[in-house]
Amino acid sequence: MEVIRWGIAGLGKIASRFAEDLQLLPGNVLMAVASRSAENARQFAAKYRATYWFNTFEALLTCQEVDAVYVAAPHSDHFPITMLALQHGKHVLCEKPMGINSMQVAAMQQLALQKGLFLMEALWTRYMPSFQKVLEWLPLIEPIGEITADFGFAAQVDEGHRLLNKAKGGGALLDVGIYPVFLALQLLHVPEHIFAEATFTATGVDASCRIRFEYPQKAAFASLSCSIVEHTPSQALIKGQRGTIHLAKPWHGWGSVTLHLNDREPIVFVPEKQGNGLWLETKAASLAIRTGKIEEPLMPHWFTLQLAQTLDAIRQLIGLKYEQDRISF
Ligand SMILES: NC(=O)c1ccc[n+]([C@@H]2O[C@H](COP(=O)([O-])OP(=O)(O)OC[C@H]3O[C@@H](n4cnc5c(N)ncnc54)[C@H](OP(=O)(O)O)[C@@H]3O)[C@@H](O)[C@H]2O)c1
Repeated sequence: MEVIRWGIAGLGKIASRFAEDLQLLPGNVLMAVASRSAENARQFAAKYRATYWFNTFEALLTCQEVDAVYVAAPHSDHFPITMLALQHGKHVLCEKPMGINSMQVAAMQQLALQKGLFLMEALWTRYMPSFQKVLEWLPLIEPIGEITADFGFAAQVDEGHRLLNKAKGGGALLDVGIYPVFLALQLLHVPEHIFAEATFTATGVDASCRIRFEYPQKAAFASLSCSIVEHTPSQALIKGQRGTIHLAKPWHGWGSVTLHLNDREPIVFVPEKQGNGLWLETKAASLAIRTGKIEEPLMPHWFTLQLAQTLDAIRQLIGLKYEQDRISF
């Protein structure tokens, strides 16, 4: 495959950032876009020079000239769009969270495997230079004793917006809490014990959530929090025996990272911003597709599944059930 011809399903905020970044990647073109609204699709296609635009996702997913689909719809639509895309032979890069629950994630991964198609959760943090720096510095401070990480903002949206809408998978945990949970799983792996509590919006989704992961065998713990109703510092701190690593806001993206080794001057890493940052994960996905892989080594299926299972466990503790949890496969 010389050039990967991308399609985008769902044309909101993140879709625009993806389309901009795709222009930074040689060997990748935006072939088609799909929205529920013809006018939105037409304007988006014109702005980002996509050859085709459609007002149904089905039309995009059956387009013969699309090799891979970026799923940028609300959480609730990741599963149906991804399943249909795979059934039509498309590779898929799906926004986070890949599914509403781990049952959906497992079903998507099983279908990708059956069809021999690429599938990846677009969790951009894994590919960002700041996170690479954390991994590089980690051995200098290990063993880790504690991680604290938060991600919170006061969303100024109405009740129908996907963030507050339960049918669309709204709530703090799946939208932003996924980042602190990702960090703890990457650095400390699966906790032995999880504790969690949440406050709820009038629409029945978690407004703010506090989570504690305990790792008694490692003598470590993680204190994580997220919110869609209040601004929080949105930073992360990794405390180790020989020092700390501080990730500044926005730590899940382009934030700086500071290494404080005991009794030494701090060292600061400031990433050089290029594009929106989504090109990094897309470049990795593109290379994997080109080389016939069905998963990307830095974001393998097992990790996405583990992340989804951990989010399920937290939701069970805070008592947050979505309609999608009633359907098993
Ligand atoms: N990696 C990141 O940093 C990052 C950042 C933001 C978001 N995301 C993820 O990307 C996804 C989209 O987020 P976003 O911020 O781009 O959201 P958004 O601005 O609300 O856009 C989502 C788009 O999906 C389409 N859509 C399809 N079915 C829909 C439905 N039933 N209800 C509402 N919209 C529907 C809409 O486009 P049409 O009207 O054109 O159909 C809408 O504009 C989310 O899952 C989110 O977690 C990731």
